[in-house]
Amino acid sequence: MRLNVVQRHPWDVETDVLAVTVPTSEELPPHLAEIDRRLDGTLVELREVGALKGSRWASRLLPAQGLAARLLLLVGVGDGEALDRLDARRLGTVIVKQLAGVQARTLAVHLPRVLASGAEQAAVVELVTRGLVEGAEDPSTLYNERSDKLPPELDAVTFSVESGDLEQLAEQARRGRIIGEGGNRTRRLAHRAANDVSPEVLADEASDLAAAHGLELTVLGPEQAETMGMGMFMAVGRGSDNPPRFIALRNKPTLETDARGRLLAMVGKGVTFDTGGISLKPPPNMGEMKTDKTGACTVINAIATAAQLAPEVPLLAVAPAVENMPGPHSTRPGDVVRALNGKTVEVNNTDAEGRLILGDAMTWAEQQGATHVVDVATLTGAMLRALSRYMTGGFGSDDSWWDEVAAAAARQGEPLWRMPILDDLRKDLDSPFADMSNIGTAEGGAITAALFLREFVTVPWAHLDIAGTAYLSKTDPFSTKGATGVMHATLVELALDAAAKA
Ligand code: BES
Ligand code: ZN
Ligand code: MN
Repeated sequence: MRLNVVQRHPWDVETDVLAVTVPTSEELPPHLAEIDRRLDGTLVELREVGALKGSRWASRLLPAQGLAARLLLLVGVGDGEALDRLDARRLGTVIVKQLAGVQARTLAVHLPRVLASGAEQAAVVELVTRGLVEGAEDPSTLYNERSDKLPPELDAVTFSVESGDLEQLAEQARRGRIIGEGGNRTRRLAHRAANDVSPEVLADEASDLAAAHGLELTVLGPEQAETMGMGMFMAVGRGSDNPPRFIALRNKPTLETDARGRLLAMVGKGVTFDTGGISLKPPPNMGEMKTDKTGACTVINAIATAAQLAPEVPLLAVAPAVENMPGPHSTRPGDVVRALNGKTVEVNNTDAEGRLILGDAMTWAEQQGATHVVDVATLTGAMLRALSRYMTGGFGSDDSWWDEVAAAAARQGEPLWRMPILDDLRKDLDSPFADMSNIGTAEGGAITAALFLREFVTVPWAHLDIAGTAYLSKTDPFSTKGATGVMHATLVELALDAAAKA
């Protein structure tokens, strides 16, 4: 997909499809009035019959005789004020989804100054591009031939703007494309079924990414993990015939830390299927637990994307991968295991497995020299209930590190809300038999999970619980069913921060 930015009237841009935004305002803005004139009053006519109100994301595709484009796509943006970053992503996705089944190879998007100007213009161009790339991917077509439902593959996308540094804007669009492609890799992998992606296959995928992006791969099997003392990691995969794999990727191994003396470790939950183990989950929607590996998919793809954009930044991605199954070898409720950091844990619920593998993974990351940790995990149903599918919930052990993570999420238009790590709830994790239990009581489930994880990290740490946001079973005009790739872009942005500050 070639990306261009031009300073030209939208009606002069030669393209298969020209996308323009329509506000709800009484008067058509001047460029729409001119397009209307060239279309012999079609837009005003549509407005009069109530078919072009400009309501947010309401879209209409028309023939574009009189313009240099063949088709005109009108996309409602509501009040027509400046797009925020989430809006920008959504605009891109809405545009490309409207083109499903349409024969088009080229697209132009007109971005008037009212929607994006000044410093925000570059961000909007990046995020609209990212939205276009992500909107064109539909992970629900992975195992079927419904490709007629897919948006067309575009050869070229042109942004027409009223002002700005065109070369810099084009560069920013390319960044959006690279991040969007990484998000799509994450989504495809996260969406794959558990009979297709075992821990070993996840390690193979990491190996392919390592080869493609010049990363260094480490894979530990069960014997090594056992010998090293990863008792929590080992407790989870025992019931499965598919052996666990402790996966790590590193870039630029010659430099240990960045200009600020940091090594960021991104740790992702890689449960390739979560039955709950002996604490078996109820049948409804258990199939969705094939996406319980999403955190792992996110971190291995984020390090690959970051390597494309800033190869000089040292990074570590850690993806403990296991399948949580009931069986004769499974961990039982009440079993006590010893974590890599020496703490003993009573496993009172084998369905609270993510925190077990993440705890050992974070200890390992610190042993490798990590100075800052961020973990991503489909960790608790409680987070889905608390914040819904529209907002990721996060926790931070350190205010300034949290602020950096939150700023990265804001820059990438990924909704993230800080939740409290309530020390008062820590006693709910007390165990009469071990240093701690792996579950709390019925209250504050997402918080007790965070409190548990905190026991296994000593450096600044942030925890992103994506249980609600990783996978969509319902859609909006601006989203696609299935794996979302949420937080991939945030991690990339966070990693690139180090490059910017170098
Ligand atoms: N993978 C689940 C969490 C989850 C639930 C993700 C729904 C996405 C959608 C996790 O391993 C789990 O089972 N958590 C338990 C914890 C409980 C046993 C303390 C939960 O949320 O019920
Ligand atoms: Zn799980
Ligand atoms: Mn579970």
